[in-house]
Amino acid sequence: MAELDHWHPVLFADELGKKPAPVRVCDRELVLFRASDGKATLGALADVCPHRGMRLSEGRVEGGRLVCPYHGWSFAPDGEGKCPATPAARPSADAFDVVERYGLVWIKRRGAQAAFPTLDVSGYHLIGKTRQRAEAPLEVTLDNFIEVEHTPEVHALLGYPRERMAEVTCEVTSTETSVRVYNEGPQKALPRPLYTLLQIEPGDSFVDDWTTWFSPVSTVYDQYWLDPATGERRPNALRIAIFFVPVTAGQTDIFALSYALAAPWDRYGLNAFAYLLTRAFVVMELRRDVTLLGKLADKSPELRGKTLSRFDKPLGLARKRIETIYRSRG
Ligand code: FES
Ligand SMILES: [Fe+2]
Repeated sequence: MAELDHWHPVLFADELGKKPAPVRVCDRELVLFRASDGKATLGALADVCPHRGMRLSEGRVEGGRLVCPYHGWSFAPDGEGKCPATPAARPSADAFDVVERYGLVWIKRRGAQAAFPTLDVSGYHLIGKTRQRAEAPLEVTLDNFIEVEHTPEVHALLGYPRERMAEVTCEVTSTETSVRVYNEGPQKALPRPLYTLLQIEPGDSFVDDWTTWFSPVSTVYDQYWLDPATGERRPNALRIAIFFVPVTAGQTDIFALSYALAAPWDRYGLNAFAYLLTRAFVVMELRRDVTLLGKLADKSPELRGKTLSRFDKPLGLARKRIETIYRSRG
């Protein structure tokens, strides 16, 4: 399957301890494990013993090898197997490439050439890593994340007010490998403390500028505010990277890495507190998206027959690139 040729985050690094961990990605069941002392080499194997089909994730790690709990065959991170009862046997388990980066564990098909996704967060501070599961296919999940028309209805805080939605601009540009959307319009009214937290003023313009890539399917959002009188940027900004990982055909995991500019809060010595609040705010908004996606009556990725709006142009552009780049079709 072409999808697994791309790097996918499948687990937070701190979720993988001494015990092997089962994960499902693109309908494949894998087992992840840390060889030896909990710090060394990572292994990612198909979660099925080549002997008689036991789940290797039910096994244990011993001296750098994953031991099957049924007949004790053991496997190295590269899949090389040993059979204690028949030492001459050379079984092998299906192994995947695996790395730990940005606090996540990533896998791809062994030897596939896909580049690791780059993430430029220099000057930013990590405020949170989150994972949510949407009960919807990849395309339909991504749709929600690449248009802002839902923000008045679905979001509590981040986005645009319903009564001024018509003023929101939506500029879409694309290349063969990416789709970029720039939205600008009035920020929704917020509770007073949030203006302080975000270092913005009532009446500010909110910019949501994002680019989606397709190896793997991911979107990086730059969110910031403008002084409407001068057009100047406020000092604060969020950068949120979201990786969309199909679990099954109808479920998508959303891994979000949220960053904020450090500088604005430094002078108050309140960064830790501000990050905590901002993280809670991002989690709450993502949860609203995920809850809504679960309630769609039509979860088919088909766009034909749907009545699309001026904000939906990125959907078709993303569909094409998911097909050609992510799924390697056509
Ligand atoms: S099923 Fe795994 S060792 Fe037999
Ligand atoms: Fe949303």
